Amino acid sequence: MSKLFEEITIKNMTLKNRIVMPPLAVRNEEKGGFVNETILNYYEKMSKLGMGLLITENAFPSKESRVMPNQMLLSDDKFIDGHKELVKRVHNNDVKIAIEINHAGANLFNIPELKNMLMNKDESDFVFEDEEDSRKPLKSINEEDLPKEKIREIVISFKEAGRRARDAGYDMIEIHAGHGFLINQFLSPMINKRKDEYGGIPLNRARILFEIIEEMKSNLRDILISVRLPVADNPPQYKFYDDGLSVDDGLLIGKEVSYKVDMIDITGGYSGSRPKEIWSYDGYFKDYSKRLKELVTIPVNLTGGIKTPDFANYLIENGYCDTVGIGRALLSDKKWIEKAKNLLER
Ligand SMILES: Cc1cc2nc3c(=O)[nH]c(=O)nc-3n(C[C@H](O)[C@H](O)[C@H](O)COP(=O)(O)O)c2cc1C
Repeated sequence: MSKLFEEITIKNMTLKNRIVMPPLAVRNEEKGGFVNETILNYYEKMSKLGMGLLITENAFPSKESRVMPNQMLLSDDKFIDGHKELVKRVHNNDVKIAIEINHAGANLFNIPELKNMLMNKDESDFVFEDEEDSRKPLKSINEEDLPKEKIREIVISFKEAGRRARDAGYDMIEIHAGHGFLINQFLSPMINKRKDEYGGIPLNRARILFEIIEEMKSNLRDILISVRLPVADNPPQYKFYDDGLSVDDGLLIGKEVSYKVDMIDITGGYSGSRPKEIWSYDGYFKDYSKRLKELVTIPVNLTGGIKTPDFANYLIENGYCDTVGIGRALLSDKKWIEKAKNLLER
């Protein structure tokens, strides 16, 4: 049997194979942040493709933390029922399901990958169905705009979102620490200029992440936690950002994170999860993940530019990662998993 189709047990969760559908926000949102029929049908259909683990697109712990209008919320108990149904539909296809929880952070309009998407929009477009629901973006993450009491509120909002995800029956919660959003902004010295205990040395910059993990864990019982961790703000071989999170700092943080959670889902490139410059470089974060694997004992998922089943299998066989995230390849070829099985298991 190929490594790709071997089971893996992560704590109390067994995946039937090593293929992970990474978070892919395909914009099926509905006003109000509920899980609607379109979202249910979409994930039900995707889970029929047969991955071991499906991670939902980012959902948000508060209205004002959303990246785009109408994305899924976990900010109130009224959202739990919709998520219960989503979990049920995916479980019916014998696939485990995680939900990604994210906070947009500050200066959304300065996040490079989002710039294009937001090109014809301005902040006033982020007004929802009622005044109260409009997005109140953070101006910055510095002490003035984001005082410690506000950080505490955010941490608690993640904790509460985690509890709701638990009650909905998710197998795992993934905390989004990458792609230029709030937690990534704290991790990056180019953005985080705080002088208090949330800024400065790497483990201080990761403090908000550690607090979120600790608070969530106190509520989750046996539900697993994964962190979508940017190991560096620059993808390998490129320097888009001076003074971004360095690989050494990212690995140090990764090692510390690994003592606290059940899986690390590696990513990188400040909002550059899919930089066009390295699209031809297969598995572009693979060298980061190999280095991380040498430091940690928990499973590492690697996503980014993995296109073929052979290569996916090679990465696991050769110790780059334990599972592989297949994003765009799966979106563009719904038979990817079936073909992989035919190819590797014949
Ligand atoms: C349409 C689209 C939406 C995405 N939405 C999310 C998201 O909600 N959360 C996230 O962490 N990453 C998101 N990503 C990044 C993917 O999870 C993944 O890291 C990236 O596409 C690289 O993997 P790939 O080469 O297999 O596609 C998105 C990517 C795409 C193409």
